[in-house]
Amino acid sequence: MSKTRVAVIGAGPSGTAQLRAFQSAAAKGERIPEIVCFEKQEDWGGLWNYTWRTGTDEYGEPVHGSMYRYLWSNGPKEGLEFADYTFEEHFGKQIASYPPRAVLRDYIVGRVQKAGVRDWCRFRHVVRWVTWNEATGRFTVTAEDLPARRVYSEEFDYVVCATGHFSTPNVPGFEGLEHFNGRVLHAHDFRDALEFKDKDIMVIGTSYSAEDIGSQCWKYGCRSVTVSYRTRPMGFKWPSNWEELPLLERVENGNTCVFRDGSRRRVDAIIMCTGYLHHFPFMEEGLRLRSANRLATADLYKGVVWVKNPRLFYLGMQDQWFTFNMFDAQAWWVRDVILGRIAVPEDRAVREADVARRVAEEDAAENPIRYQGDYVQELIDETDYPSFDVDGACQCFYEWKKHKKEDIMGFRDNCYRSVMTGTMAPKHHTRWVEAMDDSMESYLRN
Ligand SMILES: Cc1cc2nc3c(=O)[nH]c(=O)nc-3n(C[C@H](O)[C@H](O)[C@H](O)COP(=O)(O)OP(=O)(O)OC[C@H]3O[C@@H](n4cnc5c(N)ncnc54)[C@H](O)[C@@H]3O)c2cc1C
Ligand SMILES: NC(=O)c1ccc[n+]([C@@H]2O[C@H](COP(=O)([O-])OP(=O)(O)OC[C@H]3O[C@@H](n4cnc5c(N)ncnc54)[C@H](OP(=O)(O)O)[C@@H]3O)[C@@H](O)[C@H]2O)c1
Repeated sequence: MSKTRVAVIGAGPSGTAQLRAFQSAAAKGERIPEIVCFEKQEDWGGLWNYTWRTGTDEYGEPVHGSMYRYLWSNGPKEGLEFADYTFEEHFGKQIASYPPRAVLRDYIVGRVQKAGVRDWCRFRHVVRWVTWNEATGRFTVTAEDLPARRVYSEEFDYVVCATGHFSTPNVPGFEGLEHFNGRVLHAHDFRDALEFKDKDIMVIGTSYSAEDIGSQCWKYGCRSVTVSYRTRPMGFKWPSNWEELPLLERVENGNTCVFRDGSRRRVDAIIMCTGYLHHFPFMEEGLRLRSANRLATADLYKGVVWVKNPRLFYLGMQDQWFTFNMFDAQAWWVRDVILGRIAVPEDRAVREADVARRVAEEDAAENPIRYQGDYVQELIDETDYPSFDVDGACQCFYEWKKHKKEDIMGFRDNCYRSVMTGTMAPKHHTRWVEAMDDSMESYLRN
């Protein structure tokens, strides 16, 4: 009989967690299937690879990257640390708690470099179409080798979709934008805050992109920030040149924005921080996840198994408090399903009931961090992923929230204790508001 084949789509933090999960089983002597990881970028790292490009890339593909220059972790690294590969192991010392993008990228790829799984990846191969064949019980994955311009199809027994969900922008329309005399962009295309130096900017939205892109522009010298909220303001203690107004109603006379409460502001640029779409155009209809950005996603048993076909898995599709170690918890669990160590209920109604229960529990949950922490704990209890202090990680997130409330432009100056090694992070050498150099060399100078 031919060897079982697993397709992993995407080599970001979720996809590489899947590679590492299989490699760690192989390292313990387990027979593992053949793994093929399709990645449309030229390197692994997912969103953590910075690109100056926006729109389409050199092959005409939509640019995946949503990250920008000077991006620093927006949560403490102590909440996302891998349990099987600590920051101290990677950097040879403990580092401060809110690393810039390049430092986190180095950490993510360091683990899979060490695991030696690069040969499993086909870089610059984009997945175009995935279908399920009931008669053969296999998937057909059609991909394109972009440099060679060669489209080909292969058969797989399992598919793990790890293509992320913060890459296809959700872009609402507003009256009068067609006459706006300035730049209108979505956060996905934001690259450098210096573009907005000395400008009056408006950001629409109140979640992490709005908070962080507004803060970046403020730090790099924009004149003012106006936040436009649909539901409620963020309510932090903002600097004096920062205000929050209700939703934009229309744009008038070139640059004047009129808000729902009748206030009017002249702005130079509008940055829509209005979130992203779960978008999987390469999945045939019966396999295609459609979900809101929430903690209990639609149609995923245990948050990972496609309810309509338990040989298809989606990783990292939840809204995220926990990130890297949650993707690990999911990847180890999916690996064990594929290796036959964990059974998924054969009755679809049972799988659907699990989804319905998770959705109801999220709706009733008073503490979303705890809710997601419990989910991570549930998964790691069922595999050999190194057990870690999930409660301790939740505590880091509670402290982080408190620190943001106290000082929104200073919260990144705080330090937390690693729940993996017990070591306290050192204080960074420069306060975040004054740290203009976000290079790895500068960050590691502690
Ligand atoms: C602006 C921004 C800042 C963030 N900051 C933080 C932070 O500070 N801390 C944190 O923990 N999290 C942060 N996140 C959350 C982020 O989602 C996760 O950290 C992580 O990158 C998710 O990993 P992933 O592998 O699921 O998805 P991604 O990182 O999006 O990786 C998906 C991969 O799939 C590939 N791919 C997509 N489509 C195809 C296809 N058809 N064929 C082949 N390959 C394909 C992509 O090229 C990409 O490499 C941030 C997100 C954004 C948008
Ligand atoms: N490292 C960093 O510093 C950093 C920076 C940016 C982003 N991120 C990460 O990126 C991910 C995505 O965050 P995100 O903020 O882009 O998306 P998000 O969390 O999904 O938030 C979307 C926001 O858009 C608003 N919105 C949606 N549709 C709208 C409409 N039609 N009109 C007005 N407002 C609308 C929502 O408002 P309502 O509340 O009204 O629904 C919400 O405030 C998160 O995981 C985050 O952690 C991290």
